[in-house]
Amino acid sequence: MYHSKISGLGFYVPSNVVTNDDLSKIMDTNDEWIQERTGIKERRHIVKGEDTTTSMGVKAAKIAIERAGIDKDDIDFIVFATLSPDYYFPGPGVLVQRDLGLRTVGALDVRNQCSGFVYALSVADQYIKTGMYKNILVIGSEVQSSGLDMTTRGRGVSVIFGDGAGAAILSREEDLTKGILSTHLHSEGIHAEELVLTAPGMGGRWVNDILVDNNPDDESYFPHMNGQFVFKNAVVRFAEVINEALEANDLQVSDIDMLIPHQANLRISQYIQNKFKLNDDQVYNNVQKYGNTTAASIPIALTEAWEQGKIKSGDIVVLAAFGSGFTWASAIIRW
Ligand code: ACO
Repeated sequence: MYHSKISGLGFYVPSNVVTNDDLSKIMDTNDEWIQERTGIKERRHIVKGEDTTTSMGVKAAKIAIERAGIDKDDIDFIVFATLSPDYYFPGPGVLVQRDLGLRTVGALDVRNQCSGFVYALSVADQYIKTGMYKNILVIGSEVQSSGLDMTTRGRGVSVIFGDGAGAAILSREEDLTKGILSTHLHSEGIHAEELVLTAPGMGGRWVNDILVDNNPDDESYFPHMNGQFVFKNAVVRFAEVINEALEANDLQVSDIDMLIPHQANLRISQYIQNKFKLNDDQVYNNVQKYGNTTAASIPIALTEAWEQGKIKSGDIVVLAAFGSGFTWASAIIRW
């Protein structure tokens, strides 16, 4: 029996900054509305042909591998979380194996949208705990911009999301008081259609039917979100899954040194911060700069917080996420 620790972190975002004012030139929106409702000031969008979900994941992974102080041949397994894979199949895990030139190690793709990175971390943690693997590359990466409705029709969704990637190396930890203490995973599929992208889908649906139907009014290729319903569920589930992680480890709210909430919306993070009476140094947010990068948001925020010296050895770090599915999850780590 072992624990796993995060031994290296890295992130990559495209250099192309898209401000709220930029969006207001292509759709009926404005900086005030977006900032007031979401806290977002700008986000990154890829430049066509320059980046993909996989290429950004690879860039983040290279930084994480170097910081972990391991050789790429020390990696035993890949777990890749995304809702925006380069291909419908195969998933990006095998593309990372190819592009990083790794040994023929296993590669697993995780869906689970905004909770994807915490789910991926949980999967990797189990393999390390049992002793099966020593070093696992965990990636969360998303290109959202190419799949959004960038007209006024899609403004309720498209202003929120951004592109980017984060990566972590999870490594064997022999000190059982350290590393990932526990992970907590949940889903409630009754709400699947509240935040959904229905096309392309092939399980029981005929692609030709979707293509024949395809026309400028067809919204099935764009994500649909019942924003207020998502918001109401998010604040409840975030709180539940943070409490669950604390209780499982006999810890109190006052023990939290750093909370990294999935960067959905600044109002959700602030609600959680107020509910738990955490001060500004105990919560890290960067949704203002990057928007909601779904599976990439937690590893990007975690990497930035670590780079800024906000996470020190021995700290209790809580990761918490909620998103499409609905799925929600937390991980609690003694750094
Ligand atoms: N700019 C200007 N006006 C807009 C925009 C925009 N970008 N988008 C919507 N509006 C308008 C609407 O048309 C509506 O106008 P109306 O009253 O004349 O009909 C008005 O603003 C209010 O719209 P609402 O959708 O009710 O706005 P709300 O206050 O709910 O805010 C938001 C929307 C920001 C999406 C909010 O509901 C939210 O943050 N939800 C949670 C999002 C989230 O966390 N998603 C989960 C993660 S995503 C994942 O897992 C992939």
